[in-house]
Amino acid sequence: MATFPEYIAQNEERDGVRFSWNVWPSSRLEATRMVVPVAALFTPLKERPDLPPIQYEPVLCSRATCRAVLNPLCQVDYRAKLWACNFCYQRNQFPPSYAGISEVNQPAELLPQFSTIEYVVQRGPQMPLVFLYVVDTCMEDEDLQALKESLQMSLSLLPPTALVGLITFGRMVQVHELGCEGISKSYVFRGTKDLNAKQLQEMLGLTKPAASQGRGPQTAQQPLSNRFLQPVQKIDMNLTDLLGELQRDPWPVTQGKRPLRSLGVAMSIAVGLLECTFPNTGARIMTFIGGPATQGPGMVVGDELKTPIRSWHDLEKDNAKFMKKATKHYESLANRASTNGHIIDIYACALDQTGLLEMKCCANYTGGYMVMADSFNTSLFKQTFQRVFTKDVQGSFKMAFAATLEVKEIGTGGTCQWKICGLDPSTTLALYFEVVNQHNAPIPQGGRGAIQFVTQYQHSSGQRRIRVSTTARNWADAQTQIQSIAASFDQEAAAILMARLAVYRAETEEGPDVLRWLDRQLIRLCQKFGDYHKDDPNSFRFSETFSLYPQFMFHLRRSPFLQVFNNSPDESSYYRHQFNRQDLTQALIMIQPVLYAYSFNGPPEPVLLDSSSILPDRILLMDTFFQILIYHGETVAQWRKAGYQEMAEYENFRHLLQAPVDDAQELLHTRFPMPRYIDTEHGGSQARFLLSKVNPSQTHNNMYAWGQESGAPILTDDVSLQVFMDHLKKLAVSSAA
Ligand SMILES: *[C@@H]1O[C@H](CO)[C@@H](O)[C@H](O)[C@H]1NC(C)=O
Ligand SMILES: *[C@@H]1O[C@H](CO)[C@@H](O)[C@H](O)[C@H]1NC(C)=O
Ligand SMILES: *[C@@H]1O[C@H](CO)[C@@H](O)[C@H](O)[C@H]1NC(C)=O
Ligand SMILES: [Zn+2]
Repeated sequence: MATFPEYIAQNEERDGVRFSWNVWPSSRLEATRMVVPVAALFTPLKERPDLPPIQYEPVLCSRATCRAVLNPLCQVDYRAKLWACNFCYQRNQFPPSYAGISEVNQPAELLPQFSTIEYVVQRGPQMPLVFLYVVDTCMEDEDLQALKESLQMSLSLLPPTALVGLITFGRMVQVHELGCEGISKSYVFRGTKDLNAKQLQEMLGLTKPAASQGRGPQTAQQPLSNRFLQPVQKIDMNLTDLLGELQRDPWPVTQGKRPLRSLGVAMSIAVGLLECTFPNTGARIMTFIGGPATQGPGMVVGDELKTPIRSWHDLEKDNAKFMKKATKHYESLANRASTNGHIIDIYACALDQTGLLEMKCCANYTGGYMVMADSFNTSLFKQTFQRVFTKDVQGSFKMAFAATLEVKEIGTGGTCQWKICGLDPSTTLALYFEVVNQHNAPIPQGGRGAIQFVTQYQHSSGQRRIRVSTTARNWADAQTQIQSIAASFDQEAAAILMARLAVYRAETEEGPDVLRWLDRQLIRLCQKFGDYHKDDPNSFRFSETFSLYPQFMFHLRRSPFLQVFNNSPDESSYYRHQFNRQDLTQALIMIQPVLYAYSFNGPPEPVLLDSSSILPDRILLMDTFFQILIYHGETVAQWRKAGYQEMAEYENFRHLLQAPVDDAQELLHTRFPMPRYIDTEHGGSQARFLLSKVNPSQTHNNMYAWGQESGAPILTDDVSLQVFMDHLKKLAVSSAA
């Protein structure tokens, strides 16, 4: 039998799922005593090049409230051609096309290796993809020029049949008509007044053809384009020209003022335009902004430069006068887009904040990208944007559209459905389950709990596809089999699942309350699963299955996801957004950055994220997901300054300097979004990025201890891991706790 780590890896590989516990407690009470909930990280479109889609549709359970998909866990009576649903126990007849099945002739979906399977929906028209560019023109020439080039480049990456549209905004909002003969034409809107879908429809003349007027969605017979959204193959030359001619917003900006930027109305028009024309079709609204909205609905700051945009301090004092109203505006747009299956991406490139805090729901509710950079003329923006259009070996985009996820589980006949809209192969969702059985009526021993994930989406080829993953875990009685539950703990998944809960709390609660909550959970977990004698901290032992977990919590507490000090509200929103959508491996790097050392003493090696790893004759490479940092120790930095690397006799030093640079390039070329690259050295100002991440094992901070605030333990300051662990043990074994 496979060990749990092997089992966990196999399941992740095959089904894209990691559970906090791989054996489940069989009653609600016991489940709450596990401290970490039964939960899963699920990557719906995990790359499976070995899994060609099946060219037929899934067979569904006939019970209307169930509709689970036939899967390898179902019992099959081949003689009677019946199958029993493993979720609701309904017996179902196979459809006529399955008449030939037998024990030796099973359809793929019954084979255990197809616990994850992807179907191509055969019905319905193939839908085009729609890309609507929403472009800010209030920016410096350098930025605008770089952005225009990136947008022009992107046209060449779109499938020829994709529909594209262009909205530009500054003080006014312009919806550009494409494909009109010769001269370009656009509709101009004021940026101070919002328009509802109906008004927009009338003003842009988006009346539907007579045949379907009144009600019903567009049918396949109607031309699937309009004057504002045209196939790339028809207008790419003209749109390239149009983009090339874009100018900075012509309205004068007086001294001491910000440009008037009508971002809120521009986004509203984009959402409305797609809502009227392509509801429930895969579409991306790509928004490029060079500064904050300064007028109209959705404004986040006034146009007086002397009044800065809200800070954490203003938010704490309830002194951010535009925040609530703007958030409401963007939330309502995000909801409308999500209802229609449309994605909203935000590329915010500016030195100061642009309002990501207020706008984050647009990307969040719709599965959109959020990218933050200092300028459009940076490789961070350019490379990241280009990577959005990455293709797989079949030449299809890796991005998926108009996705929904449905989860089916045993018990209350539970089925839950969410609109996800945008998905890519790394998008990872956290799902928290509840064991509903009461303590006196636990789930019978030896049973298995099954969960089915049904992801429906529009593939970039235009096909509708359904991916189904069915997975099961054993139930166990926590009173007699606590050992087997403990052995099934997946500490990496658990750390990310608890971290996501903490980040969720941090969005609405005060920072110290969140840390207190996290500490309490950690202490309870130590009490429940540690080995110790009461009141003897030195006796505390955690089995290997749990051994890394406290360290993850230590780094999480110090991470930008929970600490807002030194970050703007926009930065916090950005970091949290990335943390909430990336897969487990990337999320772990975000919590506990990885550190490699390069020296003359051997090949590069991973070293502890600890200040003791910083040595004069070493080069360090740190990956925090958001940054790739190379740090030259004191001696190495001196040699570099002296130029040894240029002398023939010190060739090995040149190689030593080059090695981390090459490794960094590899990360820079593959990651999305592209990380920031930092080259620094002992005493360099950017070395602070390294120093803020390593465990301060050798600093005066060791003097600090845990404070006792309102009875609950919390770390007073930036203590070392050692101090943290010592206090954790003390609290865990305390008979008073
Ligand atoms: C963008 O940045 C590069 C490198 O910093 C510079 O050479 C180039 O001129 C900039 N582009 C524009 C349009 O200014
Ligand atoms: C594209 O532009 C050319 C020249 O400006 C014009 O003659 C042509 O009609 C345009 N084509 C479309 C489809 O707009
Ligand atoms: C979206 O917001 C919800 C609620 O705050 C949060 O749980 C989720 O993780 C967020 N997702 C992303 C991708 O930010
Ligand atoms: Zn069923």
